[in-house]
Amino acid sequence: MRLAGKVAFISGGARGMGAAEVRLFSAEGATVAFGDVLEEEGSALAAEIADKGGQALFLSLDVTSAAQWQAVIDATVARFGKLDILVNNAGVSGAGLVEDVSEAEWDRVMDINAKGVFLGTKTVLPVLRHNGGGSIINISSQLALVGVDNSSSQYMASKGAVRIFTKATAIQYAKDGIRANSVHPGPIATPMTEGGRTDPDRYNTTISRIPLGRYGEPDDVAYGVLFLASDESSFMTGSELVIDGGWTAQ
Ligand SMILES: NC(=O)c1ccc[n+]([C@@H]2O[C@H](COP(=O)([O-])OP(=O)(O)OC[C@H]3O[C@@H](n4cnc5c(N)ncnc54)[C@H](O)[C@@H]3O)[C@@H](O)[C@H]2O)c1
Repeated sequence: MRLAGKVAFISGGARGMGAAEVRLFSAEGATVAFGDVLEEEGSALAAEIADKGGQALFLSLDVTSAAQWQAVIDATVARFGKLDILVNNAGVSGAGLVEDVSEAEWDRVMDINAKGVFLGTKTVLPVLRHNGGGSIINISSQLALVGVDNSSSQYMASKGAVRIFTKATAIQYAKDGIRANSVHPGPIATPMTEGGRTDPDRYNTTISRIPLGRYGEPDDVAYGVLFLASDESSFMTGSELVIDGGWTAQ
């Protein structure tokens, strides 16, 4: 098993790609703690993993709160004895042209998508250093690499921040054996993209931009995250793993 003996924490793990990572990490031998604002879905997923014989701990977490980050990482280490892997996956989308976006909406998206990654990383760094190293995987987007006319500036700016923050982390903490890499998914079939997939015009526009001609599945991304979490990627840090059906190759 590819994560045997590892302990992972995944933010935004109650549904979508985060839930796929909880399931895959657990199937690959990891002990998984995960946090989310969706308490019902999170508890149900933890019960599902336990039914399959795995060990998963759901903890309520709003990634914009430093105090809550400290509490969930403390609880994870108290329960499982250590931490090897952090996946900063929680995120929200946004809408509107630049002129339509209020300061409050800009701050909302930047706080969850960018500050949330900073706070999660800052909280786990001493734990990973104490552990002798670890792997941090930050979920950015293909929209950190190219712009697009039908997403929002606040979303793209937040994902661009995650991309370069990952490199800063990688460089500053390589000496501690801590790796940090970003993942750049294209359009993936999760609850976040449900609106765009059920509107025929938006769906057709998106599909026309994906050379492989389909939305990705949550597992398409989860397998990339698994690779970066495992020791198979031990010489990778500060890199960008693009999983976008060919979107950014054009
Ligand atoms: N779906 C896509 O097409 C796509 C493409 C590129 C990148 N992404 C990114 O992938 C990640 C996962 O997205 P998804 O598609 O699975 O979306 P999703 O909406 O299905 O899942 C996101 C999860 O994050 C949680 N979350 C939101 N705000 C939170 C907060 N403040 N604190 C804690 N948890 C919070 C949600 O409750 C949810 O469980 C996000 O960072 C997203 O931006 C998604």
